[in-house]
Amino acid sequence: MAGCGIRAMRWGLESAAADGVPVRLHVNDADVDRRDLLEANLEALAPPVEITTVRAELLLGQAYLDGCFFDLIDLDAFGAPGALLQPVLQVLRFEGILFLASTDGRSPTGHDRRGALRNLGSAARVHPASWEMALRQQLGLLARQAWLLGRGVQPLLSFSEGRTFRLAVRLLRQLRPLEEQCLGLVARCERCGDQQFQPLMKLRGWPPCSCSQGQGLWSVSGPLWIGPLQDEEFLTVLQRDPCLKHADLIGSSSRRLLRRLAADPGSPPTVWPTAELAKRLGCSGPPPLDELVQALRCKGHQAFASALMAGQIRTNAVLPDLLQTCSEQAPEGIKYRQ
Ligand SMILES: C[S@@+](CC[C@H](N)C(=O)[O-])C[C@H]1O[C@@H](n2cnc3c(N)ncnc32)[C@H](O)[C@@H]1O
Ligand SMILES: [Zn+2]
Repeated sequence: MAGCGIRAMRWGLESAAADGVPVRLHVNDADVDRRDLLEANLEALAPPVEITTVRAELLLGQAYLDGCFFDLIDLDAFGAPGALLQPVLQVLRFEGILFLASTDGRSPTGHDRRGALRNLGSAARVHPASWEMALRQQLGLLARQAWLLGRGVQPLLSFSEGRTFRLAVRLLRQLRPLEEQCLGLVARCERCGDQQFQPLMKLRGWPPCSCSQGQGLWSVSGPLWIGPLQDEEFLTVLQRDPCLKHADLIGSSSRRLLRRLAADPGSPPTVWPTAELAKRLGCSGPPPLDELVQALRCKGHQAFASALMAGQIRTNAVLPDLLQTCSEQAPEGIKYRQ
């Protein structure tokens, strides 16, 4: 799905700048009219480049028949890429990396619930951390497809700008211990905003939410990935890569993104917009995110500024504790009564 070849060009340039590991690129787009452009754009690359213009299904099926495995596959799809996951995983080498893009924002964010069932085999409900939920839905599908082959998955990085949802995932020869516990359900009360999650392996009923007298209304999404979205070690090594020291190889916004992702493991999957918390408390504005993170950590909770969506906090604090801490940070000194 190379389009004009801009991503292939980048892979070619960066692999040439790296530590001399010989790289070969296979660049494909189903549109035959792209060939001339691809050839012109990729002509000057140092690594050998093979350009084809066939449907990805054909390319991947042929690679499988030929016993040809790829170290890295960059699938930059329009729409939902689910149908290609199984053929992609079958030709990805163990420890190989899949870069997966989806531009289907409606179904994984709960705005097309029938679409979510068709594309993801999952229930998707509207949630304020919508981009994160879309990435979790995509990862959940990917994990299930890899597990069908007896393989494990390790998310390396996950991010979005709201239109394209991007993942980098390492395929493992085997599942990691208890990896299946990363597949689960996320619930959010439509009235009080409370959130809960649970792995499918230990499925139980939902506890009462923070609404008084059991008036709550859980809306449940899943099965989706409830494990970490980022690999901190991978991101730390990536940021130290000598290639990234060259200012012209990576822009300042990409650098900031990597820093943000490294600072938020993407776990637990309970995330609140600070604006929603402020509104529930009747404050005029949200508390400073960093101060709220610190205050929650001082009380022994996990807390991170979400790297996925601005102005959101990830924490394992239960909603009453979160609101209490939030009210202590509010400039007006709003009192929160549980
Ligand atoms: C999102 S665009 C890719 C953009 C490109 N990666 C870039 O950065 O410029 C999707 C591309 O996938 C190609 N495509 C669509 N279906 C395909 C398929 N089944 N196999 C291969 N390519 C396909 C389209 O021709 C289109 O160029
Ligand atoms: Zn409730």
